Amino acid sequence: MYWLPLTLILTSGQLLVKAGYQTKGQNCSSADNRLQIGTYQFYSDCDSQNYCSSDGVCQPKGCRKDQFPFGYSQDSPLPPLCPSGQFCPDEADACQPLLSVGSPCQLNRDDQCEPPPNAAELADTLHYGRNVNGAVCLNNVCMWANVTVGQPCEVENTAYIAYTGSSEYIDVASRGNCQVGLFCDSQQLTCMSMKAVGESCDGDKECSSFNCQSNGVCGQSADTPNQIGVWVYVLVGVGILGGMSGTLTLLFLIHRRQRDNEREKREQYWREQYAFRQNILQMRETARTSILSLPGHGSNRSTMYSRAASAASDDSSSPIPQQQSPYGASGLRNYMVDDGDFRGRD
Ligand SMILES: *[C@@H]1O[C@H](CO)[C@@H](O)[C@H](O)[C@H]1NC(C)=O
Ligand SMILES: *[C@@H]1O[C@H](CO)[C@@H](O)[C@H](O)[C@H]1NC(C)=O
Repeated sequence: MYWLPLTLILTSGQLLVKAGYQTKGQNCSSADNRLQIGTYQFYSDCDSQNYCSSDGVCQPKGCRKDQFPFGYSQDSPLPPLCPSGQFCPDEADACQPLLSVGSPCQLNRDDQCEPPPNAAELADTLHYGRNVNGAVCLNNVCMWANVTVGQPCEVENTAYIAYTGSSEYIDVASRGNCQVGLFCDSQQLTCMSMKAVGESCDGDKECSSFNCQSNGVCGQSADTPNQIGVWVYVLVGVGILGGMSGTLTLLFLIHRRQRDNEREKREQYWREQYAFRQNILQMRETARTSILSLPGHGSNRSTMYSRAASAASDDSSSPIPQQQSPYGASGLRNYMVDDGDFRGRD
């Protein structure tokens, strides 16, 4: 039954189309005033800012019952709220003094009735709509919600039309004049104690949580906050930390691999350059040796040099290392040549 106000709000939007459209000064008939079927929304020929006066003319409303009344734009002046001890009727023509016990009142307008002397004791402080300051309007009669356990009580059942998507169904709101903590049983018409969560029920009014679930058991109050277990917080925290450290580790591994590749290329380049240098030295040595060993040179020096040269070239007498391309086999060189920008890279 908690969604009832929401249902009413939603349906009032549809009904607005059917509601009165006569503006200020236009004619109307107060005989048309009524509560709409299914929603029990007040209807008159006049639009939402006017009421139908006794001379059959729409007049601006003289009071409002809601802090933020429906049908007014943000800047338009609002009719006044009624002072304490008075109420604004559904017609909203003018404020009226509160009604004494036994007086006629309008549907669901407990606020029109005079509160009992012990209002603080009887009031529905949880605001579940059981009464207003201990006063209750049942079957259009003002009374007080003061009946105790086992005593005869009055009950008022109102059938609302509720909507779910495409289908509609009846939702019965049952109210009584029992004290808070009790409900008026519709069959026996006596006050009974409300049931705790987990007990079986036939209607919201029977449950102290005001929530009779569809399986016929009193459930937690519909405004009970959702408690999330500690493990959810732990799981979320672990997930965040895990995601962060996983990303960092992944980046670290990727960069390390890149670094290793770069280092490998540099080492290759260095080895290549070193081999070139060795080759050049060797070539120079070979050239000198061959020049010195030509006939006509001093034989002493020649012998001495050639001996030294051959001794020196023994360990490097192997042919020049294979050089497939003019750029050598270095991965770094290939990489740079491919890239076409040598200086910009290193
Ligand atoms: C307003 O007056 C016109 C003409 O006098 C009448 O036809 C119409 O039904 C009236 N409307 C209402 C809502 O009384
Ligand atoms: C209970 O409320 C009724 C009106 O609904 C009143 O007439 C009666 O005196 C109240 N009883 C007590 C004990 O206050």
